[in-house]
Amino acid sequence: IKVALLFGGKSGEHEVSLVSAASVFKHIDKERFDVALIAVDKDGAWFLQPQPLYDEKEGGFVVERKEENRVYAVPAGGLRTMAKPLDIELVFPVLHGTFGEDGTVQGLLELCDLPYAGAGVLGSSLCMDKAAVKRIWIQAGLPVVPFEELREVSWKRSKGAAASVRRAVDRFSFPLFVKPSRAGSSVGVSRCETEEGLYAAIEDAFSFDDKLLIEPAVQAKEIECSVIGNQELTTFAPGEIVPSHDFYDYDAKYIDPDGANLLIPSSLNEEQQKMVRQISARAYRVAEAEGFARVDCFYEEATGKVLLNEINTIPGFTKISMFPKLCENGGVAYGELLTKLLDLAVD
Ligand code: DAL
Ligand code: MG
Repeated sequence: IKVALLFGGKSGEHEVSLVSAASVFKHIDKERFDVALIAVDKDGAWFLQPQPLYDEKEGGFVVERKEENRVYAVPAGGLRTMAKPLDIELVFPVLHGTFGEDGTVQGLLELCDLPYAGAGVLGSSLCMDKAAVKRIWIQAGLPVVPFEELREVSWKRSKGAAASVRRAVDRFSFPLFVKPSRAGSSVGVSRCETEEGLYAAIEDAFSFDDKLLIEPAVQAKEIECSVIGNQELTTFAPGEIVPSHDFYDYDAKYIDPDGANLLIPSSLNEEQQKMVRQISARAYRVAEAEGFARVDCFYEEATGKVLLNEINTIPGFTKISMFPKLCENGGVAYGELLTKLLDLAVD
């Protein structure tokens, strides 16, 4: 089967994708899949990569941008370069964040009649938007981390007096988290201890999105659960993140090798794990995820509650990433996992 790996992308997580994709390429069953590499540069242009090029230090791919290798999408006609059509049967978008994980690329692939791994247009865009997906979860009766939503226009109009800012300060106690609604890998996320700090965090987060979430810092275990499947879902024993930083920020995720400790499996007991797996499966379904996703939540010991935090329809695939590790722990090795995800794409 001819598979195109799409990686890089026009998002704050471009670099993460370069590492994820190199890891996917390393583990994919090359006897079964004939892989074409297509890099998306930071401006969003697509380039066929005649051979894999690696960044020695980071271990991720390097994007080679040669005009003659530029890739064009053809509605009802697949992908091509100027010189020739690319014979691709299936696409694996290993793109994180905006213009990759958010339904836009999925929509383009639909138009091109190309099947692809992972969630479709609605699931991708819904899961990309933390505020939107939480509203859907709440409506389905699922427990979520409480939040207030702040739009840039309200902030510009009234700053600290904006209604949702006031509600956040009244409802929750510091420390608070500020997050762009549509970003990933903690890009633009801040933890703030004071109202002044909150305002600075808001200003900063608006450089990533025009919609933000303000949330309380929950005192809880940070839990992640891998889910795969279309109609029939498989959940894996959850893992736990023990950050050594203030929180599990971008540095702790990718830069500082001691930034966080991953517990696989988590320290939850059988019953708690079961609850996380059940809630994750429902969260996945109502959020219209398909193929695979990683559901992130908290387990609050004081109340015995699971609180959903977010869902990632194209979770990190780097060698230190939780998604493939949890599957591996559950008996599905990385290479086998990729085969399953690609099979699910044409299921
Ligand atoms: N957004 C990153 C890649 C993750 O969720 O793993
Ligand atoms: Mg995430």
